[in-house]
Amino acid sequence: MKSKCTRREFLKDGAILGAATLAVSNPAALRADGPRTSAAPAGVARVVASANGLAAVQRAMELLQAGADPLDATVAGVNLVEDDPEDMSVGYGGLPNEDGIVELDASVMDGPTHSSGAVAAIQNIKNPSKVAKLVMERTRHCLLVGPGALRFALAHGFKEENLLTEKARLAWLEWKERLSDRDNWIPERNQNIPPGLAAAMSTYGTINCLALDDRGRLAGTTTTSGLSWKIAGRVGDSPIIGAGLYVDNAIGAAGSTGLGEANIMNLGSYAVVQDMGRGLSPEQACLKALERTAEGTRRTGRLSRPDGRPNYGLNFYAVNAKGEFGSASMFAGGTYAVHDGMQAAIREAAYLYDK
Ligand code: GLY
Repeated sequence: MKSKCTRREFLKDGAILGAATLAVSNPAALRADGPRTSAAPAGVARVVASANGLAAVQRAMELLQAGADPLDATVAGVNLVEDDPEDMSVGYGGLPNEDGIVELDASVMDGPTHSSGAVAAIQNIKNPSKVAKLVMERTRHCLLVGPGALRFALAHGFKEENLLTEKARLAWLEWKERLSDRDNWIPERNQNIPPGLAAAMSTYGTINCLALDDRGRLAGTTTTSGLSWKIAGRVGDSPIIGAGLYVDNAIGAAGSTGLGEANIMNLGSYAVVQDMGRGLSPEQACLKALERTAEGTRRTGRLSRPDGRPNYGLNFYAVNAKGEFGSASMFAGGTYAVHDGMQAAIREAAYLYDK
């Protein structure tokens, strides 16, 4: 027979259990109550995003304060980054797959209607987040992929564009030429790599943006070009609801950036929201999801270092229904963008491991 408990009892017990688990198993979690966690008064809008989203949180907050729907605000915010050729992890200018073709993933989730939409491995469309929102609004489906997603976008009036910038093409060519000294590709002698390009040689950046308006409506959007040089057709965590994004209007919203494979296997954003529902602060819930993911990938083997720590980066962002927010990264040095209703700022994220 199933035992029954009220929601109130569930939340209370979960809070105690969750906090104890963190404190016992993870010394780094003791950092969770530092000044990084917000305690600003409720009833004020919030926008939280990955560190590449400072302009996005500013734009989204302007829209919220003008009365926009939170989902529209987050999509408009991330569109700035999708359109930016200098961000090589999202939209136009994103690094391509191993064939030199840019394939994009995106998802949206709306708190009040508990609805989601997503596209994966879509080519030639600069703003996959807008297409994801249309999947939510204009279909009975949650996820369209590849050529079907492209045809759906074209049917709704989107225009095909070449998303491969010259800078991204050169980075891809450099990667291809240096893959092996036993193939037929030869790097140009004294190749003149544009400044900053070497640092972008292998990335899995993304933008996640979460919003809470002063009416208590939550929403989120995650959009990415995914892992650079991926096998064509590879889908990361960004369009997977529960992994790259999750929203429960009664509890909060969470999203992720970092290595999608690690996150998909552990459904981090769903876990963050559930743990906030059990009473953990957003920052504590992000740390706990990282701890679960690190433990999961330790068992996977190929995603951990000889010392047992993860060999990948992963970050979670969260805001709860009260307006408290936080973020945590697998390793020290992570930051995130927040607009707390007063100003946009980059803040330091909590972290699980120092290095
Ligand atoms: N988090 C982005 C990706 O792995 O595709």
